[in-house]
Amino acid sequence: KIYEATVTAPVNIAVIKYWGKRDSALILPTNSSLSVTLSQDHLSTRTTIRASPEFSTDRLWLNGIEEDISASKRLVNSITTARKLRAALEKKQRDDGVASEDIVLLSEWSIHVCSENNFPTAAGLASSASGYAALVSALGALFQLPQSTSDLSRVARVGSGSACRSMFGGFVAWRAGESNDGSDSFAVQVADRHHWPDLQALILIVSEKKKTISSTAGMQTTVETSDLFAERVRNVVPKRMAAMEKAIAERDFGTFAEITMRDSNQFHAVCLDTYPPISYMNDVSRSIASIVHAFNTARGRAAAAYTYDAGPNAVIYALKDDMRDLAELVTYCFPRGSTILSEDFYADPFNMF
Ligand code: DP6
Repeated sequence: KIYEATVTAPVNIAVIKYWGKRDSALILPTNSSLSVTLSQDHLSTRTTIRASPEFSTDRLWLNGIEEDISASKRLVNSITTARKLRAALEKKQRDDGVASEDIVLLSEWSIHVCSENNFPTAAGLASSASGYAALVSALGALFQLPQSTSDLSRVARVGSGSACRSMFGGFVAWRAGESNDGSDSFAVQVADRHHWPDLQALILIVSEKKKTISSTAGMQTTVETSDLFAERVRNVVPKRMAAMEKAIAERDFGTFAEITMRDSNQFHAVCLDTYPPISYMNDVSRSIASIVHAFNTARGRAAAAYTYDAGPNAVIYALKDDMRDLAELVTYCFPRGSTILSEDFYADPFNMF
């Protein structure tokens, strides 16, 4: 007897950054965040999960290599949380009078998880977001959980914060919530993938090195040491979340672009204000930002926006017509395969949906 489910989950790139936890066990953030989900054709994780009464223990293979599940508290937490939801479903079936031979006790079986990215993990792109979103979606499908996607995003959240946003396509907000048990900290879709079809993303791989300081460790030090951070959380992000949602609803690219760049800049400023300081961007990242500003000055409007996560790689958002010109400019400044940008530099813009 084997039950099986396969799903794919996308990568998301935040335009209002999540940085800081108020509870590191439950992964509860200090502020809300907002992201755009990228096309699964280019960046996604595909996960297959099998459950069988014959399996003696849970096992996991990541890109073909077996990993020790028990070594990761976050993996154990997400799987345990999903199993509890399945156990509750089985209990409900019993309570509803379903015959016991018709109830499959999947919550008691071990699982084998097989997960693969269609992009190089080493590229420094957010693989934990698509990874945990795929794991939780696959568990939801395997266990036939009745919960909504927002409910399941809470399970993905305990794997990795940004993963809760990868449970949806389109434009996604992670509402920080206030309660201590995390019940009001989950992702919601603010607009679907068809809302803004002209919007494109270009990913510039500046370095394939693994990041120096993980997001998890970096944000913890920021919370403990940065004064700027408190100001960001209290006075900046709430206003930006509202303005960003309005800009998306109105397809106002100029406002979307300015907030995106300002928020990326503030996130990196807060990293620099952390003690000891953290710097994720390098000289190439900074020169890409300058080129985007020069491009915008030449156009007399914010025609393109850059954003950087916990690493030097750039993601640029622009509307289709502008993206064509910007990609040409970037390719001219940083030829593909040169010593500045590696071979994995994606020269062609792609529609992220
Ligand atoms: C800079 O979600 O990787 O990409 O919750 O500790 O797993 P953990 O952190 P993670 O942090 C992502 C930080 C970011 C900004 C963002 O995606 O919002």
